[in-house]
Amino acid sequence: MCGIVGYVGYRDCTEVLVDALSKLEYRGYDSAGIAVFENEEIKVAKSKGRLADLTAKMEKEGMLHGTSGIGHTRWATHGEPSDRNSHPHGGERVTIVHNGIIENYKSIKDFLLGVGRGFKSDTDTEVIAQLLDYYYDGDPVHTISKVIREIEGSYALGIVFEDFPDTVFAIRRESPLIVGIGENESFIASDVPAILKYTKNYYLLEHDEIAVLSKYSTKIYDLHYKQITKELKTADWDMDAAEKCGFEHFMLKEIFEQPTSIKTTITPRIVDGLPNLEECGITPDILNSFNNIHVVACGTAMHAGVVGKYVIEKLARVPVNVDIASEFRYRAPLVTDKDLVIIISQSGETADSLAAMRLAKKLGAKTLAIVNAKGSSIAREADMLIYTHAGPEIAVASTKAYMVQIAVMYLFAFEIALAKGMIDENECRRLTSLLQKTPEMIENILESKSETQHIASSLIASDSLLYIGRGLDYALSMEGSLKLKEISYIHSESYAAGELKHGTISLISDGTPVIAVATQSELFDKTISNIKEVKARGAKVIIVCRENYEPDSDVADFKFGLPDFDDLLMPMLAVVPLQLIAYYTSVLKGNDVDKPRNLAKSVTVE
Ligand code: F6R
Repeated sequence: MCGIVGYVGYRDCTEVLVDALSKLEYRGYDSAGIAVFENEEIKVAKSKGRLADLTAKMEKEGMLHGTSGIGHTRWATHGEPSDRNSHPHGGERVTIVHNGIIENYKSIKDFLLGVGRGFKSDTDTEVIAQLLDYYYDGDPVHTISKVIREIEGSYALGIVFEDFPDTVFAIRRESPLIVGIGENESFIASDVPAILKYTKNYYLLEHDEIAVLSKYSTKIYDLHYKQITKELKTADWDMDAAEKCGFEHFMLKEIFEQPTSIKTTITPRIVDGLPNLEECGITPDILNSFNNIHVVACGTAMHAGVVGKYVIEKLARVPVNVDIASEFRYRAPLVTDKDLVIIISQSGETADSLAAMRLAKKLGAKTLAIVNAKGSSIAREADMLIYTHAGPEIAVASTKAYMVQIAVMYLFAFEIALAKGMIDENECRRLTSLLQKTPEMIENILESKSETQHIASSLIASDSLLYIGRGLDYALSMEGSLKLKEISYIHSESYAAGELKHGTISLISDGTPVIAVATQSELFDKTISNIKEVKARGAKVIIVCRENYEPDSDVADFKFGLPDFDDLLMPMLAVVPLQLIAYYTSVLKGNDVDKPRNLAKSVTVE
């Protein structure tokens, strides 16, 4: 939700800011803007729309020239997407960019209006800019600390003061922010990919630490103006991680990266053919100590939890409750100190998931985070942590992050089942080695991508469709359905195939597309019967099943065949055609695949 950047150094600042913002556009793309010190004066350029609209505007009206400044890409919260609500905001002395939400902005605004201040936008952000200007005493760090004590909410701020040319100030609470350190240059950014082109070294800013960036030095202070020494981190991604590398979209690139992401995630956690999560703080004794498991997450990450539930309950016989984080946190959940709460999150910054985790801790539960973004809030606050190593996921629609989340859920399920004595070591080894085979099998499935293009072309004229399945196929169809709707804008629902006849089947009419996932052998005949029920009512059925099944014409119109594999691990294979069908449907409809409307990648508001 919004991306911010800042630069101080020797390069052309506009170029650096625009380039860095292009790596953060996944966080929001309602408007973009930059502020640059030009001849010691702060000059601002901003525009509604994408970053490309901002650059087009600057090309027409004049580029900003300088070697320091701040930039922003917006996902609107307070005030519609418009030029006037675009960041940066500020007045003559102070200009800021902001990612987050100021909860008490109304009372501060009333106070400022009362002392005769005027506002140029409808944003909560302008309130901070005005308050900084109001309290400004010639000392930026002092002024920032004073203002921060008065504001409530979440923020990552990039700030420039007219009196301090070629210096960028930054502070964060809740919203992420890193400080990149290059040679004679420094950066701020909401996420590491924004700076990878220039440096891999960065500091993770903690809550309410103030960074002061100038060309030759970067200093970090606490709110009492005490200088802090921090550990310099090095990103283990290279620049390709943030580039499309010849793929038409990040989403397609990320779908193709899945085999590598799985290997990088599971390989270090397998020792002598058995899962070993000790480096993540998880031992057999700990696993044995829980009565119940709760998986709490949002969207795709929550769907990964549903796959986890089916697998853990089947193998380890431990009850698993999967919850949507925004419901969990306000539902007085039944969680005790005998429970484990697993939070799954790609970004590690999702506001509802973070709040749910804090609530679980308060209730005495142990928390385990499964997170992709290193150093993110959820990763830092959890009791135990398993990083997924998918690398940066830039496309808003999550694909490779989901894949590694389920890969981790499998490893976890195998280990807890072994710890609880529900499977023996041989079975655990067998399952683990099957998991290790999935990257190669996915590579083969990716070769059949043209079949999914064909299926997608049959969907683009539809207004609505259903995904159905039973058991793990149902768990998976939830993700297939979300993927399709979020990037193709076609309404879709996922349904347990056996539940259709209790109401939803009335939606089926001539030509209604139904994507049926049928990979679970024990449930196969039952799923086929349910498919026949929709087919008999006119549905156009696309079946995702094993290659060796040949559907009759009373079952399906199209088939996507998968290689034969153990039922339990079939979701890892079957998700690939579902991702590709969603991708190609979006492409064929001419949508902006990587940046679907109304969405943003990192949802830091509740
Ligand atoms: C959908 C998608 C979202 C996220 C959800 C949680 O493709 O990406 O549904 O899964 O917003 O985000 P994280 O995993 O960052 O907590």
